[in-house]
Amino acid sequence: MEKLIIGEHIMKSFGEGEEQQIVLNRISIEIGEGEFISVMGPSGSGKSTLMHIISGLDRMDGGRVTFNNRSLVDMGENELSDMRRREMGFVFQQPTMLHNLNILDNIILPSMRDNRKEVANLVEKARYLMKKVGILELEKRSITEVSGGQLQRAGICRSLMNRPKIVFGDEPTGALNSKSAEEIMDIFSEINKEGTAVMMVTHDAKVAARTERVLFMRDGKVLDEIKLPKFDGKDIERRVEYVTEKMLEIGI
Ligand SMILES: Nc1ncnc2c1ncn2[C@@H]1O[C@H](COP(=O)(O)OP(=O)(O)OP(=O)(O)O)[C@@H](O)[C@H]1O
Ligand SMILES: [Mg+2]
Repeated sequence: MEKLIIGEHIMKSFGEGEEQQIVLNRISIEIGEGEFISVMGPSGSGKSTLMHIISGLDRMDGGRVTFNNRSLVDMGENELSDMRRREMGFVFQQPTMLHNLNILDNIILPSMRDNRKEVANLVEKARYLMKKVGILELEKRSITEVSGGQLQRAGICRSLMNRPKIVFGDEPTGALNSKSAEEIMDIFSEINKEGTAVMMVTHDAKVAARTERVLFMRDGKVLDEIKLPKFDGKDIERRVEYVTEKMLEIGI
């Protein structure tokens, strides 16, 4: 598997002087093209910070990260934001969407910044994705008129508009009930099957159990990882058990 992201000895601190807190302590991480990976760890262990740094949303203090063979440290802000917009997708716990736009317009809005693209093409693309995740009939609705799970599906559509190489999810199922969470995970599995890498942060063993590699973080370090075969809908109980055992073993 070709490497999509290579992070070496990543250091990140917040605060200064006596207040200084090391949040990432020489973390090295690799993510392969098309890989499906999850990150678990206690609150404050540095999961979101790690995701922000390897995706170029935040700067590191030391170490290096390459994305698709390009070094993030050497890139300026514009270059980084272009890279994020063109090659990465982001899904957060609560999708941030504009209240005065309907679902469809919220999905296509970020892609409209690339003025090379025709609006008609974007609408077609958005409708294709909305159909795939089962929200096509909601395109005209306001974002206040849909459920949390439906809104998250819209967030996923938005993240996929530019055919990213990787989708980053920071607790994308964190605000959902377990049925919606499972449906959202089905969608991520589907995206991954089509070749897009997915990296997600989660506190939920059931979510991590569907991925093919789980990293366990604590105090700014990756303590351990487990590998699992690609999820094919089978053996979910056994996979959850495996993840849970590891969580207990290292005290997460
Ligand atoms: N912008 C910031 N300024 C100061 N401290 C920060 C900042 N961002 C994160 N931190 C601190 O860094 C540590 C790691 O935060 P991070 O958000 O990465 O944790 P996390 O593992 O994602 O936790 P959670 O599971 O609660 O989301 C925490 O102690 C947090 O308070
Ligand atoms: Mg977090």
